[in-house]
Amino acid sequence: MRTPVIAGNWKLFKTIAEATSLVNDLKPLVSGTAGVEIVVAPVFTALSRVAEASAGSNIRLAAQDCFWEEEGAFTGEVAPKLLKDAGCSHVIIGHSERRQYFGETDESVNKKVKAAIGAGLTAIVCVGETLAEREADKTFAVIETQVRGGLADITAESLKQVVIAYEPVWAIGTGKTASDAQAQEVHAFIRCLVAKLLGQPSADAVRILYGGSVKPDNVKGLMAQADIDGALVGGASLKADSFAAIVNYAG
Ligand code: 13P
Repeated sequence: MRTPVIAGNWKLFKTIAEATSLVNDLKPLVSGTAGVEIVVAPVFTALSRVAEASAGSNIRLAAQDCFWEEEGAFTGEVAPKLLKDAGCSHVIIGHSERRQYFGETDESVNKKVKAAIGAGLTAIVCVGETLAEREADKTFAVIETQVRGGLADITAESLKQVVIAYEPVWAIGTGKTASDAQAQEVHAFIRCLVAKLLGQPSADAVRILYGGSVKPDNVKGLMAQADIDGALVGGASLKADSFAAIVNYAG
């Protein structure tokens, strides 16, 4: 059985005070939740304070990006081991906003994934097609390229530190979620591809999250799909009650 992951991507929102207050509000709402890996991803500047605020709770911490080098003359970058130092257990890599606005490529995603794994972090690797790609029937081709590229040279052993997030770009922040069937179809495709690349046991074990306008009222249908193992939540993770309702989808 795969432990579901519900992760909140806070994107470029919240000051340190707002981020710590959100995690403090969230803690009691999810403290009784068992069998779900709960992750929040604040901006870099809030990481260590949110780590302090969530210490001892069942809430884990992710960064929203990382660099692939450990140290050096790389102004503005943050190394995976420094994220670990700040209290992170996870890091989101290759989010479509980074691909779209900051020149992230499958090659840079792959370098970051390897570095994150090397530092002992779990990499949440994002893939997803744009609306134009979906309308041109290129969804599976795009996803295959992104998964093959992002996970190039990753071993079955390292894949234990990888979570894949399928986030169709047209569903992000639009209120237009993929239907349960649309999401399941792509998740099943990704799992088949992982089986081809790394074998069936790896495919059976890897968690594949859905992201794109996940809300308390659509999470249950998505989570009922055979190959959907969790959610990467944007907007609805910015409030404690709505994120807690998603985390507690089963209850
Ligand atoms: P929304 O939930 O706001 O659509 O964002 C999804 C997302 O990009 C999570 O990484």
